[in-house]
Amino acid sequence: MKIFGAWLGLLHDVDFEQYPEEHCKKAPELLKEIDASDEMIHAVCSHGYGICSDVKPEHLMEKILFATDELTGLIWAAAKMRPSKSTKDMEVSSLKKKFKDKKFAAGCSREIIKQGAENLDWELDELLDKTLLAMKDGEDRVEEEMKE
Ligand SMILES: [Fe+2]
Repeated sequence: MKIFGAWLGLLHDVDFEQYPEEHCKKAPELLKEIDASDEMIHAVCSHGYGICSDVKPEHLMEKILFATDELTGLIWAAAKMRPSKSTKDMEVSSLKKKFKDKKFAAGCSREIIKQGAENLDWELDELLDKTLLAMKDGEDRVEEEMKE
């Protein structure tokens, strides 16, 4: 499951850069070229459910990706506003304020994030808390890999 999750994290936007107008629609064709399984194609397409795809997130990993795709963008935007430029010293209370401020990172859909929490049967606060913790935990690794 960990390998699948990492694979999904890396490839979920496989079609976005080259085909932004066909996001989640071009992905199956591209993924078949690398012999991706139907399960993997479903997982990739489900992250755009209700936006650019009608493939519903069903499995836990798909629901987590759907819920966190927009949210991680919002958290990262909030981190970049901080003196530390990091998530590591960010409190969840600060994140909640940014979430409620509709003008902040307006491109990150609060409705999609709320829907994602609902799909997981989590309270919104639980989703915010867990996602922030995961980003704090992974920030050093991501920064390190971005240098390479
Ligand atoms: Fe996407």
